[in-house]
Amino acid sequence: MNVLEVRNLRFQYPRSKKPALNGVNLSVRRGEMVGIIGPSGSGKSTLVLTFNGVIPHSIRGDFSGEVLVRNPSTGEELRTLETPVSKLSTVVGLVLQNPESQLFNMTVEDEVAFALENLGLPREEIEERVSWALRVVGLEGKREEFPPNLSGGEKQRLGIASVLGMKTTIIVMDETTSQVDPGGKKEVENVILRLRKEGVTVIIVEHDYRFLFRNADRIVVLKDGRVFLEGTPREVARRVGELLGLGIKLPHSLILSHRLGLPPLLSPEEFQPRVTHQR
Ligand SMILES: Nc1ncnc2c1ncn2[C@@H]1O[C@H](COP(=O)(O)OP(=O)(O)OP(=O)(O)O)[C@@H](O)[C@H]1O
Ligand SMILES: [Mg+2]
Repeated sequence: MNVLEVRNLRFQYPRSKKPALNGVNLSVRRGEMVGIIGPSGSGKSTLVLTFNGVIPHSIRGDFSGEVLVRNPSTGEELRTLETPVSKLSTVVGLVLQNPESQLFNMTVEDEVAFALENLGLPREEIEERVSWALRVVGLEGKREEFPPNLSGGEKQRLGIASVLGMKTTIIVMDETTSQVDPGGKKEVENVILRLRKEGVTVIIVEHDYRFLFRNADRIVVLKDGRVFLEGTPREVARRVGELLGLGIKLPHSLILSHRLGLPPLLSPEEFQPRVTHQR
């Protein structure tokens, strides 16, 4: 079942000379982990802002085509153009690059509970969701902490927990790890892998592609506001030459295997001899 469908989507910011999105088509299946990559300015952030309706409801511009999100538990299909952001935010959760801008409560647990209280959920349900979300991101031991005192990686994990508590169908992360140190980045990546085990559909925009090439189900490459190519990491990795031509910084192992004329070498773990049955 597709939980997101983007059809012939165009969007142009006011006073901008060219469209930021220029005919994007994309479907995402339930439970899929999709990486969106592409050069700076190719439209990645603009695209993900259309998923929860911030574009065109809050950030206005010239919008055509459509974005549909589906809530698998109710089967309800929502056209973002006709659905208020308040409703869309219960289906699509967006984790931003800068966690500080999203944290404004006195304790970690209040931070996660805040949006749920606004949804008017019963107290027991809120408590259950807060515990679950904090457990998934590994912050259950920090419930009483003051969010500004957390490390960079913990703040990002808290940002993820706040979105997770909403139990949205889709979680979108736009460069969530770009401002945290390598340790924090690893923590966030582990959380992403756990989300996937929980069956959450995750869409990730990232400049560091190693994680995506190793773990995503599918990689979508944007160029000039369009899908330039998409496929499994292995399929996309075969097109190293084109990706380098776009100015995309690829993992060294991929470039190396390309130069040597070898099949795409994604990671040392993947480079294992395969046992083939000889007849
Ligand atoms: N608020 C805005 N007003 C006008 N133009 C914008 C705005 N935000 C983005 N753009 C333009 O839209 C195009 C797509 O930008 P977008 O931020 O979506 O790209 P991106 O792929 O996310 O880039 P990056 O990798 O640098 O984050 C660019 O040409 C950019 O200059
Ligand atoms: Mg961006």
